[in-house]
Amino acid sequence: MIFAYLKPYFRHLIVIGLAVLLFVILSREPEDIQPHQQVDRDEEISSDVKLFTDIELEQYNGREGSPGLYLVILGYVYDVASGVKHYGPGEAYNMFVGHDASRSFISGEFEAYHPEMSDVSSLTDGELKSLVKWKSFYDETYVYKGKLIGRYFDDRGRLTDYHKVILERAIKAEQKETEPRQQYPSCNVEWKEETGTRVWCTSRSGDGVERGWVGKPRRYAKEPNPYCVCVPDDVSTSDTSLAPFADCDVSSESCFVMETKTV
Ligand code: HEM
Repeated sequence: MIFAYLKPYFRHLIVIGLAVLLFVILSREPEDIQPHQQVDRDEEISSDVKLFTDIELEQYNGREGSPGLYLVILGYVYDVASGVKHYGPGEAYNMFVGHDASRSFISGEFEAYHPEMSDVSSLTDGELKSLVKWKSFYDETYVYKGKLIGRYFDDRGRLTDYHKVILERAIKAEQKETEPRQQYPSCNVEWKEETGTRVWCTSRSGDGVERGWVGKPRRYAKEPNPYCVCVPDDVSTSDTSLAPFADCDVSSESCFVMETKTV
């Protein structure tokens, strides 16, 4: 080993030199790090999340000389270059690139961009849920690039209070929609060639446990396939997603189903 042949004096010098180098590296101030290089605190140390400013992102509009084609939804930035036929200059959805126009995913305003288009607070909870689904679409289809500092993320890439409220409202809508399935027991179902499908309610749940009430079969129609739940008598039928079955008395505990897809 060369090291063994060096005079002790030189060996000490090398060791001290390495120690000084290590000290310099470890004591670098965080100010040296540019905003877009900061490690995302919310997302732990998994990856460096690039943080964009409005001005920086504006350049990613796909026009000649631009560094790329980036779209923003709920403050998340995606590279949509592979969808240039939708988002490129002059294409139908070009308005979405270079800035956050989240509200337009619901309102359908694609003509001209206004900064207020990033404000989604006027949307209903259900619309916010749809917006979050659009965000999932971009996660699945395009390349995630980082976050836009502003309404949805602060300058350290953390969710803003505004963003948290939006997400809570979207989750509330999601829970509301799945509620009847969780809240009410499903009906009994049988199928016979002569009569077709019959749904009915008994005072026992599917696993045979006595629940103390029978309820009426109601068609829960908000899912892709309508679904039958037993709803207690004191529940108002004003919720149109829980409608009585066609050609079946509202007070009946058993109904024949005229459509094929209901279970
Ligand atoms: C709020 C209303 C709407 C929004 C937010 C919207 C948004 C979008 C977006 C973002 C894309 C590109 C998806 C991708 O990256 O692959 C797209 C594609 C498309 N949209 Fe819309 N759209 C809306 C309404 C409509 C309507 C009313 C029509 C039809 C009259 C339509 C027809 C299409 C078609 C044909 C495609 C291309 C599908 C493909 O080639 O893969 N859109 N839409």
